[in-house]
Amino acid sequence: VTKIGVLTSGGDSPGMNAAVRAVVRTGNYHGLEVYGIMRGYSGMIEDDIFQMDSRSVANIIQRGGTILKTARSKDFFEPEGRAKAYENLKKRGINGLVIIGGDGSFRGAQKFSNEFDIPCIGLPGTIDKDIAGSDFTIGFDTAVNTAVEAIDKIRDTADAHDRLFIVEVMGRDAGYIALHSGIATGAENILIPETKTDIEELISSLTEKEKRKKLVNLIVVAEGDEYGGANEVAEIIKKRLPNADTRVCILGHIQRGGSPTCLDRLIASRMGYHAVECLLNGRFNVMVGILNNKMNYIPLDNAIKAKQKISEDWLKIVKILAS
Ligand code: F6P
Repeated sequence: VTKIGVLTSGGDSPGMNAAVRAVVRTGNYHGLEVYGIMRGYSGMIEDDIFQMDSRSVANIIQRGGTILKTARSKDFFEPEGRAKAYENLKKRGINGLVIIGGDGSFRGAQKFSNEFDIPCIGLPGTIDKDIAGSDFTIGFDTAVNTAVEAIDKIRDTADAHDRLFIVEVMGRDAGYIALHSGIATGAENILIPETKTDIEELISSLTEKEKRKKLVNLIVVAEGDEYGGANEVAEIIKKRLPNADTRVCILGHIQRGGSPTCLDRLIASRMGYHAVECLLNGRFNVMVGILNNKMNYIPLDNAIKAKQKISEDWLKIVKILAS
């Protein structure tokens, strides 16, 4: 591998810039030419590719979003799209790729490397933390901290008015943002897609709390929960508990932005560095993860979205601590 391309793909996540920086600088350190590919696979198809050097990634480690921009390319899932992308890499002699994104992006990479013999390395970049083979994904820590900051603020106003707040956080069909932010903000209930919610139990615990004049309640709901999000849960609660002063807040895309936390910058730098090492050492078509504080390399095939099991322990802790 002598010339490598780097791209960010799928939903952006804070820390992607730190990862791009690490790939460019490690590549340059080893004498590789490094090319930035704009807007994920779309830029690869549209030939929006430019050479990068150490200076092109100056002053970005602390910035959210991605300087390479990102997209979810439909064309790359068509053979013609991938063939066009390959032509654009070939004419520059690019013979290795680093893809920073989620499982959809890895699926594309897997297909591409099978067809065209271009080694691909995936770095898990998603706020959802829904990728198998890594304890961390780039952006999750920042997103959770953003959610915690917001929920703390909501608790202030909920407390002032004795209100029941239902806060919806992102995560697509994973409940990690809800679980972590809910525990960290002392939420009374956390609803996540990985476990079934007993709505009757939820109502009776709220009724019991109402009786003992505990009127401030915070319920954190993952957008992918079985009821379909905070508005839907609020509908049910309003009907069953008409006396509760219920409000809904959907945190939305603020969870995707902002300056990455120290942790996200660290893991992005570490993973970016190891992505280039993989390409140099012939460890091809893997996702670089971190498991138990060690680098973990799993075939891109297996890095596909995995419903990681959420330990029952956590949910028990929530129940006990939220009384
Ligand atoms: O995968 C990241 C994520 O922010 C999910 O949590 C969310 O469901 C989705 O992307 C939102 O996508 P979009 O920005 O396209 O609306």
